[in-house]
Amino acid sequence: MSKPEYHPYAAVADACRKRFGEPPRVVIILGSGVGVLQHSLENDDAAPYSEIGLPTTSVVGHDGKLLVGELAGTRVAMLSGRLHSYEGRSMEENVRAVRAMAAWGVEILVMTSAVGSLHIELQPGDLVRVTDHINLMGINPLVGPNIDALGPRFPDMAAAYDPALGAQADTVASELEMRMVRGVYAAVRGPSFETPAEVRMLAKMGASVVGMSVVPETIAAVHAGMRVLTIAIVSNDGTGLSDEPPNHDEVTATVGQATDRLCPIISRLVGQW
Ligand code: HPA
Repeated sequence: MSKPEYHPYAAVADACRKRFGEPPRVVIILGSGVGVLQHSLENDDAAPYSEIGLPTTSVVGHDGKLLVGELAGTRVAMLSGRLHSYEGRSMEENVRAVRAMAAWGVEILVMTSAVGSLHIELQPGDLVRVTDHINLMGINPLVGPNIDALGPRFPDMAAAYDPALGAQADTVASELEMRMVRGVYAAVRGPSFETPAEVRMLAKMGASVVGMSVVPETIAAVHAGMRVLTIAIVSNDGTGLSDEPPNHDEVTATVGQATDRLCPIISRLVGQW
């Protein structure tokens, strides 16, 4: 009989079990500029990615560590530092952390992400609760032999962004009197920003915002049976929608301001789980 395959994510899950014990119910991936949420953690412990078998990221503003602690009284994990496909790493490395969380037993994946707006009504600083996506990255993390231990060959993506979690998030945002709209996330590989023609095309396709992350993680998480909630922060107008072309510093600065609204939403929500 052949030995069962031992995938890298399984080694990370084992390392998490050893280091942190029982899995928390929730993991939050902190996108560009949202790293401050980790300061709201209490009784936390952290492991650098390199110690638990996770690849490190090269993007400024994304350090690499897994934190486990309490947020609003609920035990959560936070992945501070995400890998992007444009860094040139394999898809396996890109979604290893998400798969490890699922294998450890974490049920809910919360993601934040900076995005460009595709419509003039969506302004920098706006929060967008992602209801669906269009994958234009030209890649999919499930390509290759299916990992049957995680999920099926052809996973259903009809409700990839969990409608019940999304409705809860909408309720919390309105309780806190924070504007949060719903929208479709177009994922591109980057790292160049879009051309004006690409922005017009993405809007015509039915997308509301464009970004360079979220989608590989969502696909891997849904495949592995996790529930996903994603809240994006509009960091800039899509190219051509305003006179100023987008740049990474603007992205980080605008997101920094919007986190003052996003963090309370996430904390209150997680406190209910
Ligand atoms: N395009 C793609 N990804 C992004 C953008 C953008 O305008 N802003 C933040 N991430």
